[in-house]
Amino acid sequence: MILAASTQRTVGLVLAVIVMVGVVIYLLFNFRIAKREVGSEIELAANRRQYADDAELETRILDKALGWSLVSLAGIALVLPLYWLMEPARQENAAYSWVKRFESRGAKSYEEACSGCHGPNGVGGVAAFTLANSEGQFVAQVQWKAPALTSVLSRFDESEVEHILNYGRPGSPMPAWGLPGGGPLTEQQVHQLIVYLRSIQLDSETIAAEVAAGVRAGARRIVTEADPVSVDHDEIEAAVDEWLAQATDPASPDYSDYGELIFNNSAAQGAYGCARCHTPGFSYGATDDEATASLIAEWPRLAESGILTGYRPGTGHVGPSLASVGTRFSTADRQADFVRSGSAVGVGYGNARAGTGGMPGFGSRTEDLDVIGTTVRSRILTPEQIAAVVAYERGL
Ligand code: HEC
Ligand code: HEC
Repeated sequence: MILAASTQRTVGLVLAVIVMVGVVIYLLFNFRIAKREVGSEIELAANRRQYADDAELETRILDKALGWSLVSLAGIALVLPLYWLMEPARQENAAYSWVKRFESRGAKSYEEACSGCHGPNGVGGVAAFTLANSEGQFVAQVQWKAPALTSVLSRFDESEVEHILNYGRPGSPMPAWGLPGGGPLTEQQVHQLIVYLRSIQLDSETIAAEVAAGVRAGARRIVTEADPVSVDHDEIEAAVDEWLAQATDPASPDYSDYGELIFNNSAAQGAYGCARCHTPGFSYGATDDEATASLIAEWPRLAESGILTGYRPGTGHVGPSLASVGTRFSTADRQADFVRSGSAVGVGYGNARAGTGGMPGFGSRTEDLDVIGTTVRSRILTPEQIAAVVAYERGL
């Protein structure tokens, strides 16, 4: 764009200079001619001067004219292909400038409509939310985690994200934004938001590091609970390393606990975990027995209304209960395949007839990761991490 602008400016300048030179020459000639004596125009008149004869006209002058035509033809023949060669780059620039324009409009809508809950640049945040019972009566006021959006395009297809934006997540603070769901945003504004989301997706290494940090935080909790006396930082970290080293072995008695840490991973406000969609109340604090009990003590109507009756991991919220997931998938490998790719609208999985597209893909949704168009797509969980979380789920 800058290049185009400066080219136009250069062309404009050159034209202006040519016009100015022309004006100067015109003035000069008029000035000179005006000074001629009266009557001198008789000698000066062009039609009174003898012009070239036929012999010269048909040789020297004709050759000269033909020569110049050849030169200008050659010029055109050279410039046209050169211009044409630049055309793809020009088109690409034009398309790119539109992407950038959409991106900055999306960023503006994001600032206005989303950052209050999902945090600046999609890093995740919390939303105050009022829970009501089936009669619409007040039950509790909770702080609901809004997941980071910096990996959402790696876990969902864009059409699925569009669906979430259009219709929101009923029963959660995420409202419907698109006109189809009764929200205020047009189809184009929703699209611009998705173009903006493309620009904030994290690469594979950053995601892997965040996932690992979340799992590590959980492992640290396990280690410090087992040995509450130890306070030395290095000692604790060493014990965490040791615990993780053995728990990741499928033969370890702690393997299922390791899977549970992945299931409950709260890094990026739960974006990489499963519990926010499969464990009731996890998003607003029902993260273990103790936390759930104190939540219910604070808001007794949670239990009375049946919204949150206790810590029941994997019994279903956005996604279904995983209590009998073994009958859904005949083998752990099939289940792992499903966790890797997620569900798609109308496509069967396990022995289910059709998915809704609501289950994200945690492996890789496409074979080629990295940059597709302008979007970075990353794997969230490694095959080993998926195997561990599947083992945990099948034990629920
Ligand atoms: C009032 C708070 C709030 C606002 C405003 C809000 N969201 Fe959300 N959003 C949430 C919460 C909470 C969730 C998680 C819902 C759940 O737990 O099922 C969510 C979920 C999502 C998801 C699904 C993410 C996933 O991984 O499951 C997307 C995408 C999303 N929001 C995008 C947006 C965009 C884009 C905007 C702005 C147009 C927006 N949200 C505005 C609270 C909000
Ligand atoms: C954004 C919400 C969400 C998250 C996060 C999520 N799931 Fe799901 N999950 C779903 C939905 C929705 C379904 C139902 C599939 C459908 O409707 O297409 C489902 C289905 C499943 C099923 C099949 C259960 C059945 O009986 O049909 C398994 C297994 C599963 N999820 C495992 C996981 C694991 C493992 C994770 C974490 C790594 C996870 N889910 C994270 C929403 C989620």
